[in-house]
Amino acid sequence: MKKALRHAPIAARFPHFLHGGDYNPDQWIKWRDTDGTNRIWKEDMRLARLAGINTLSVGIFSWAALEPVEGDYHFEWLDEVMDLLAENDMAAVLATPSGARPAWMSQKYPEVLRVNAQRLRNLHGERHNHCLSSPLYREKVSAINTRLAERYKDHPALAVWHVSNEYGGECHCPLCQERFRAFLKKRYRNIEALNDAWWTGFWSHTYNDWSQIESPGPRGETSVHGLNLDWKRFTTEQFVDFYLHEIAPLKKITPNVPCTTNLMGTYPGIDYFRFSEVLDVVAWDNYPQWTGTERDIETAARASFCHDLKRSLKDKPFMLIESSPSATNWRPVAKLHRPGVHMLQSMQAVAHGADTVQYFQFRKSRGSCEKFHGAVVDHEGTEHTRVFGDVAAVGKRLAGMDALLGTATPAGAALVFDWNVRWALDDVKGLLQGKTGYEKTVIEHYQAFWKQGVSVDIIDSTRPLDGYELVAAPMLYMLRPGFAERIAAFVERGGTFVTTYISGYVDENDLCFLGGFPGPLKEVLGIWCEEIDALYEDDQNSLEWQGARYRIHDFCELVHLRGAEALAVYGEDFYAGRPALTAHRYGKGKACFIAARTEQRFLDDFYAALVKETGIRRAIDAPLPAGVTAQVRSDGQKRYVFLMNFSPSEAVVDAKAPAAKITLAPWEVKVLDGE
Ligand code: GLA
Ligand code: ZN
Repeated sequence: MKKALRHAPIAARFPHFLHGGDYNPDQWIKWRDTDGTNRIWKEDMRLARLAGINTLSVGIFSWAALEPVEGDYHFEWLDEVMDLLAENDMAAVLATPSGARPAWMSQKYPEVLRVNAQRLRNLHGERHNHCLSSPLYREKVSAINTRLAERYKDHPALAVWHVSNEYGGECHCPLCQERFRAFLKKRYRNIEALNDAWWTGFWSHTYNDWSQIESPGPRGETSVHGLNLDWKRFTTEQFVDFYLHEIAPLKKITPNVPCTTNLMGTYPGIDYFRFSEVLDVVAWDNYPQWTGTERDIETAARASFCHDLKRSLKDKPFMLIESSPSATNWRPVAKLHRPGVHMLQSMQAVAHGADTVQYFQFRKSRGSCEKFHGAVVDHEGTEHTRVFGDVAAVGKRLAGMDALLGTATPAGAALVFDWNVRWALDDVKGLLQGKTGYEKTVIEHYQAFWKQGVSVDIIDSTRPLDGYELVAAPMLYMLRPGFAERIAAFVERGGTFVTTYISGYVDENDLCFLGGFPGPLKEVLGIWCEEIDALYEDDQNSLEWQGARYRIHDFCELVHLRGAEALAVYGEDFYAGRPALTAHRYGKGKACFIAARTEQRFLDDFYAALVKETGIRRAIDAPLPAGVTAQVRSDGQKRYVFLMNFSPSEAVVDAKAPAAKITLAPWEVKVLDGE
């Protein structure tokens, strides 16, 4: 088990859980009394304090207010807001405004506008749509970021830099094409090496000059998987590079202020493991689709997975930088949070390692497309609303939790979720086209741990495996350099490794391993996979394990034993009787292979047995009823156990320690102090 310890507070000057969120005072800039006081801002400060809010994020989309005309900067309003925050003991999460740009800029310099995969340049509008290469955009971003940093470097409210907003998408303009070619040149050095890596002999797709290469798109190339993959890698590097460009002046002028940007769940377009290397602290936006029914159990497990991923990215506490205190307007059904749910979703983040609970948004905007998005302060404008009460309750609870700040999560198990694997798998033609279901599968495996209250780190192929008892890597289709060797070493030293069907098929260039799957994992797993069967929805198969029968769907891999033993065999079809589950003793450890996609119940039972066998410590030594999970934070001495009920019914946990029978109301969370 990895060592638990206490990390430093995210913002040194604010050693408390941060509670607050996105605040758009610039939307209310004109709401002044005759004496000049902005009556909305003044009231906002009163309401924020009343709600136990100690941080507000400002300036996220403020470029047009900060620079309404090119070169004509207006910081007076932001000065006033920053001063108000300081006067009210609030930490400012100050944003750089590059997430959206003023109309004058798009009009005068069309190169800042993004070009889509059809090679069509966007018109001005929306947000998150700038070119990442444009020297002009980069210059403008530098100029405003420098001014922001210079102006507020000594401001007592400044706590964290919120760089841009939800980086995402991609640009296919000529400038980006040039950078893509430069990226490829650096990677492959000569065009022959690229042709080999991309297997371009196929369909006469050979390139004889770098200038012939174009990003993939519907009017051009989509069939060269190496190209598709490198374009994704390039796009991630574009964001890394753009982010480094954005923070350069911030780091120079305010070296002690941490920088971050808000990530999105498991957003496919950026490899967050790579991207997090350049962040000081990970921050993310969490908007689960709560329904108020049993369906919330799965939703909760997914949210937990996303939190664990964010904690694991830098192996330390993260920021829940956005969440909705009520309805989420962009969901197809903007259902209200049932009583208890707001507290539960906030504490859930903390349970998995968040040191902040922040919202979108503090005050509901009056117009445009987010006017009905949940907010702390509604259009009605007072503290006398249910949602305000919910928020204030979270503020009060967090204020009493200083002892937990910075505590770590001792995880005995790790689950591999790798963007490169996912990109390659999503591109596979064959198997179940477009439905290989990588992310869904990884989360199904995660659920088996979640239901038992076992803390899990989410890692990718580049992260160390030391310190874990158990590592699971479902659908490890691509083996990135050195990973198979590190897995073998991990097992040899005594670790337990689990993988599944569709593992060890391709190398990092998406070229199939020759000599049998699962490629370089054959030896540690003690198997050879000859074929894989993809099933129609109404096809049936099954396996029997430890006296129970489990349904199989989607995939059945046909395995030969090469040292491993079969723990279960297929029940049906022409491969009935052949191995469906194998285990191989290797060194001091064990490597297991689940050959088919099974129903969830099998994963639950199988991992429960492995947790027992490996002795991984659970959050609480008691069976957990359906919908209940337990998660731990610890400073290495004291353990704080979060018991959370995500079901709409009351649940009883039959615990021996630290308390006897514990009853949880629907959507209730209890935090227990234990040794
Ligand atoms: C995202 C954005 C916010 C806001 C919310 C609404 O997370 O970052 O600006 O649009 O969605 O849920
Ligand atoms: Zn571009």
